[in-house]
Amino acid sequence: MALNKMKDMKISEKERLSMDYVKGILQPTPTCEIWDQIWNFQAKPDDLLISTYPKAGTTWTQEIVDLIQNKGDVEKSKRAPTHIRIPFIEWVIPGIGCGLEQANAMPSPRTLKTHLPFDLLPPSLLEKNCKIIYVARNPKDNMVSYYHFQRMNKGLPDPGTWEEYFETFLAGKVCWGSWYDHVKGWWEAKDQHQILYLFYEDMKKDPKKEIQKLVEFIGSKLDDETLNKIIHHTSFDVMKENPMANYSSVPAEFMDHSISPFMRKGAVGDWKNYFTVAQNERFDEDYKKNMANTSLVFQF
Ligand code: A3P
Repeated sequence: MALNKMKDMKISEKERLSMDYVKGILQPTPTCEIWDQIWNFQAKPDDLLISTYPKAGTTWTQEIVDLIQNKGDVEKSKRAPTHIRIPFIEWVIPGIGCGLEQANAMPSPRTLKTHLPFDLLPPSLLEKNCKIIYVARNPKDNMVSYYHFQRMNKGLPDPGTWEEYFETFLAGKVCWGSWYDHVKGWWEAKDQHQILYLFYEDMKKDPKKEIQKLVEFIGSKLDDETLNKIIHHTSFDVMKENPMANYSSVPAEFMDHSISPFMRKGAVGDWKNYFTVAQNERFDEDYKKNMANTSLVFQF
């Protein structure tokens, strides 16, 4: 489908977007329809990509990176909502926007976002040796966060009950595919490319240390005062009240914050409020099996 046709389509109040598969990965149908154009995305050497599995702390990282690039100038980072400042390359929401179109129209240097698994990353980003920041989050919290996000976001499938969603997530039948394949695929790729691999839990524990890693990777230099300012403005409580960082600018028919706010809890360990003892045992068994072949370690 032509990119300009997408703008004319609308999702009605009650409906959700339909889903399809791209190379075995579940995606909203509008993304599948322009997949060839996404795959052939033309990167530039100074593009910076933020890559994550959905709900791993993407928006938080985007805000940090934008503030680093603007040397801590909070007003500059409030110039537009997150998804306008940093195009989400495979994102197509009829009537709302198309990340690919935004990215193509954006002057360099561009900062971009993706949730694509490593194998589905448009090859040009690697050919041009672009810098990539990957953020991973422990799968239990990631699952809980994704469940609530699917409840409030009409651009994704209805998650059903928590019990149903638990099975769906474990089976990897969610948009952008299996959590295991995603975090492991990017972990394996990190030493062959310019990839900085970070963890949500580390960012919570010691934001200064992780932000310093980002500053260095981006090739910037910031004094201590600016660093502290960035830590403050990207804290959960401050971002929750920032309309340019909390997705409140997206129409309610698409993201309904009264069902579950985008800035929900921002905590490590919230899974303990959702997993039953039996679910936790089942999860741990599945995790052990799936993580046996990797050096990747998570904090729960
Ligand atoms: P919860 O649903 O657990 O609260 P993404 O941006 O990848 O969609 O991730 C969203 C998750 O990151 C949500 O998790 C959200 O609350 C959390 N988040 C957003 N900003 C944050 C911040 N500044 N600090 C900690 N967590 C944050």
